[in-house]
Amino acid sequence: MRVLFVGDVTAKPGKRVLAMHLPDIRDEYDWVIVNGENAAGGKGLDRKSYRLIREAGADLVTLGNHAWDKKEVYELIETEPIIRAANYPPGTPGKGWWVLESGGFRLLVIQVMGRVNIGLLLDDPFRTVDRILAEVPHDAAIVEIHAEATSEKYALGFYLDGRVAAVLGTHTHIPTLDAGFLPGGTAIQADVGMTGTYRSIIGGEVKTFLDRFLTARPQPFRSAEGPARFTATELVFDGARVTAISPYFWEEP
Ligand SMILES: [Fe+2]
Ligand SMILES: [Fe+2]
Repeated sequence: MRVLFVGDVTAKPGKRVLAMHLPDIRDEYDWVIVNGENAAGGKGLDRKSYRLIREAGADLVTLGNHAWDKKEVYELIETEPIIRAANYPPGTPGKGWWVLESGGFRLLVIQVMGRVNIGLLLDDPFRTVDRILAEVPHDAAIVEIHAEATSEKYALGFYLDGRVAAVLGTHTHIPTLDAGFLPGGTAIQADVGMTGTYRSIIGGEVKTFLDRFLTARPQPFRSAEGPARFTATELVFDGARVTAISPYFWEEP
């Protein structure tokens, strides 16, 4: 079994490169999971962006701290294969996990968000994952941790080592070079990276983003233009375990 996890699709360039490349490689994977939290103009997921991601070949779309930025998501999340972080408080719309099923094999995908430097009052991601693993029947599990701090991502990795197939980080938009295995056999990568324009500041236009730092005042978010990169992580499974984890890149010509 092969799974492709595509990093945060960011604004128009991200959607463009996704639509350009994913259909060409889709058949090589049993399941494709795409983080779409930045798909609509860099912030949130609207109906049009969701359709494009699904038509490109995604089986499941995940969100993040930008989950609620576009109002259409409230409707979409009730009926479509979309998940938001599982450690939002009880009563939050939508679900924080999803089971992808094929030929009797159930792949549980959970998203949690970190609590370090992300500015949200979320529940404990560690115990949230424990609870879902205990409650939801599955044959293998992937946990996406959408977080700012690498330390928190690795803490969750070691906490879950040997209990889940893979722990994949998202949110920082810059891929990390650590893809590999923890001692108990769980595959890990601190950040999958972004699908979007890398000659930018995490997908945002350089001038306005830089001004946040130079002026110490809020600035509007504008997404960057320019050639985009498709960035993902490939997981090869043997039963419930991952036997190979590899970052995957494709650059727009
Ligand atoms: Fe993101
Ligand atoms: Fe994020």
